[in-house]
Amino acid sequence: MTVHQAQGPAIRVQGLQKSYKELQVLRGVDFEVARGSIFALLGSNGAGKTTAVKILSTLLKADAGTASVHGFDVATQPADVRESISLTGQFAAVDEILSGRENLVLIARLRHLSDPGQIADDLLARFSLTDAGGRKVSTYSGGMRRRIDIAMSLVGNPPVIFLDEPTTGLDPQARIEVWQTVRELADRGTTVLLTTQYLDEAEQLADRIAILHQGRIIVNGTLAELKQLLPPAKVEYIEKQPTLEDVFLTLVGADGHKHTGDDRNVATNA
Ligand SMILES: Nc1ncnc2c1ncn2[C@@H]1O[C@H](COP(=O)(O)OP(=O)(O)OP(=O)(O)O)[C@@H](O)[C@H]1O
Ligand SMILES: [Mg+2]
Repeated sequence: MTVHQAQGPAIRVQGLQKSYKELQVLRGVDFEVARGSIFALLGSNGAGKTTAVKILSTLLKADAGTASVHGFDVATQPADVRESISLTGQFAAVDEILSGRENLVLIARLRHLSDPGQIADDLLARFSLTDAGGRKVSTYSGGMRRRIDIAMSLVGNPPVIFLDEPTTGLDPQARIEVWQTVRELADRGTTVLLTTQYLDEAEQLADRIAILHQGRIIVNGTLAELKQLLPPAKVEYIEKQPTLEDVFLTLVGADGHKHTGDDRNVATNA
């Protein structure tokens, strides 16, 4: 079993199908995610990203097809899958009434880890939340909440993590912080599957990008491969209006000495 797990992709999805009553959401989804890589699943609202993540994290059963995570089949070995993953959902799962530190300790206890306090303190430090650790999560900003949510999913160092829209609703600074965190995870060998609607997020983070559309993966490749699907960039000539800065610098002089000796030299030579 150990040998089996050490080989092959971290996630393998083949022919996955899922309907909610008449609504066919997944119509045969196939993809693989290499170990230690970041894989972005892109798609519009309602494309089925969360549905796919729920199936991979054993919260939902597929109608057809197979999926394995860390070498375990999601349908027949769900307990093993759950031990190998963490899921940070689209909507934060932190307990507002507890402090950030208490949330982390709680998860470490639930995972039967030794020294939950030390684990909590290490994660708070890693996510720059040491000072806020003792405060109730209800007082956290959106970015802090997202960070504590991701920190909670790292308790116990799962080899595979699912992040469902990790930066939705965050300001640019907080998004960059989350991106940094995700990169560090992958650098430590964790496999990350993230869903996003932000194309720049996928560009920034992902080793591979797949687009889920009308129930199927319509493209899957590296950023460079995806860019090759379109004709090469065209050079366009644009008439550029002066900016206020151009006007200002022309009037004042870029060096601030416009109406000095140089002007007289120009006049004399003319
Ligand atoms: N429990 C459910 N019962 C019925 N329909 C559902 C259920 N869950 C999801 N759906 C529908 O399935 C489709 C896919 O939903 P899903 O949440 O997987 O999309 P998504 O790609 O995550 O979208 P978003 O970007 O908005 O999060 C949507 O049309 C949604 O309304
Ligand atoms: Mg979703």
